[in-house]
Amino acid sequence: MAINRVKVIETVVCMMLDSQPDERRQAGYIHIFRAEQAAVLIARRRGLDMQLAAVCALLHDYEKYRTGESEDHAKKSADASLPILAKTELFTPCEIGVIAGAIMVHSDKESVGQPYEEVIKDADVLAHHFLKSAEQVKEEYPRAYQRYLRLKEEFSI
Ligand SMILES: [Fe+2]
Repeated sequence: MAINRVKVIETVVCMMLDSQPDERRQAGYIHIFRAEQAAVLIARRRGLDMQLAAVCALLHDYEKYRTGESEDHAKKSADASLPILAKTELFTPCEIGVIAGAIMVHSDKESVGQPYEEVIKDADVLAHHFLKSAEQVKEEYPRAYQRYLRLKEEFSI
């Protein structure tokens, strides 16, 4: 049976989270696995590779939860994903480039980019903001608002 690449990366993320203080560990589990599920659904709807989408989501905030620092965490998480993915020997250089590239730009919610960049930005917005009303998102997270509206439309939710 083929090795489940997603499960391998899920294990890497769980090991990282398990060594964090309680509050950060809990926040990380909630957000990262919400984002993973959202990314899989988005990828399926858009005809993209669900495994790559899942891995993008699993690693997109890796450094934020590993260090507790949000500053520049997209680039730092992209950098951290390179050796993690390479070490598994389960991803091609091209796939690693796509994943790291998508993670790198995920904080820029206002720009529209390549398909996997869009998956992770959208999965992040779904994971963070879909418990909130449109008014709340508009007021509290204006940079995510247009993306929130587009997702509501695309998924009829
Ligand atoms: Fe996130």
